[in-house]
Amino acid sequence: MNRTRRRSWKKWIIPAVLLALGLAQLVPVSRTNPPVKASFEGPIAVREIFQRSCYDCHSNQTQWPWYSYVAPASWLVADHVEEGREELNFSNWPAYDDSSMREEIVEETTEGEMPMPSYLLIHRKARLSSEDLAVLRQWADAPTEGL
Ligand code: HEC
Repeated sequence: MNRTRRRSWKKWIIPAVLLALGLAQLVPVSRTNPPVKASFEGPIAVREIFQRSCYDCHSNQTQWPWYSYVAPASWLVADHVEEGREELNFSNWPAYDDSSMREEIVEETTEGEMPMPSYLLIHRKARLSSEDLAVLRQWADAPTEGL
């Protein structure tokens, strides 16, 4: 009968999902930390902000969290790190060290685009305070003065 047939189909949903999740774990995920070429050497106050709030995605010193070992979260994390490093890598800072990148950093942080909001849900310490934003602003305007 119809009803029994539907029930017999449904009993496979959970095993199928578990199987898919299990197979997902087999997809290789790259979690590399390549050597640091030339790390960011700016003022310590600025360095601390970047290390705390940006380095997981924008440096070769990523601290890979436990969920970066569990698919499908691992795919998202690895994507963010790969894209983040492509846009800006503090482990190769001289390649980006100019006023336009400093300005972009201030823009992205002031507008709340960076650090990524989804990252902040889990990494509350990475939130930037208004003091942090002021430090970045001052550094962008005059990278070698004060601070
Ligand atoms: C969870 C990962 C993650 C964190 C943490 C993070 N970023 Fe990003 N960032 C990305 C990704 C992914 C991109 C590229 C895609 C995009 O622009 O949204 C990016 C792009 C950027 C760009 C280039 C923007 C553009 O559109 O060209 C800048 C500048 C930037 N981030 C600065 C920062 C700064 C500064 C911090 C720390 C205060 C930070 N990010 C923290 C993942 C991250």
